Amino acid sequence: MAETSNGAFEPKVTAFVCNWCTYTGADLAGTSRLQMSPNVRIIRLPCTGRIDPLFIVKAFERGADGVIVSGCHPADCHYTSGNYHARRRFALFLELAGFMGIDPKRITFSWVSASEGGKWRDVVNDTVTRVRELGPFTAYRELAGKP
Ligand code: FES
Repeated sequence: MAETSNGAFEPKVTAFVCNWCTYTGADLAGTSRLQMSPNVRIIRLPCTGRIDPLFIVKAFERGADGVIVSGCHPADCHYTSGNYHARRRFALFLELAGFMGIDPKRITFSWVSASEGGKWRDVVNDTVTRVRELGPFTAYRELAGKP
């Protein structure tokens, strides 16, 4: 959670992205100077198949208010089926998120290819807007007894 100089809530969003598609799409969005919310911090991984659901839980535990998981479109994964594994794992994770105190609306799963800078901008802006409306994620800080 972060605040602007006027005290308004500005969400922190962590994005786990695959190196081959979404990271390159995000880079394209940047080099194309598309207007995006600056609230997202990217963590680049070789493939969405490498994204352990615990990474998402850890991100929330360490102060994220929202999470994006994004990689290659179906059939475009550079490791053949990593994104299919990720999709199954993510669907299961969403079922369990509520039990872990995480509102599933705080999490976005998307496919963004290397040529989709505009789609990445939309994913970022939509996620930040939605998380801003949900407010700060405080459940884990409260459990830890932190203010
Ligand atoms: Fe991009 Fe597998 S290499 S999702």
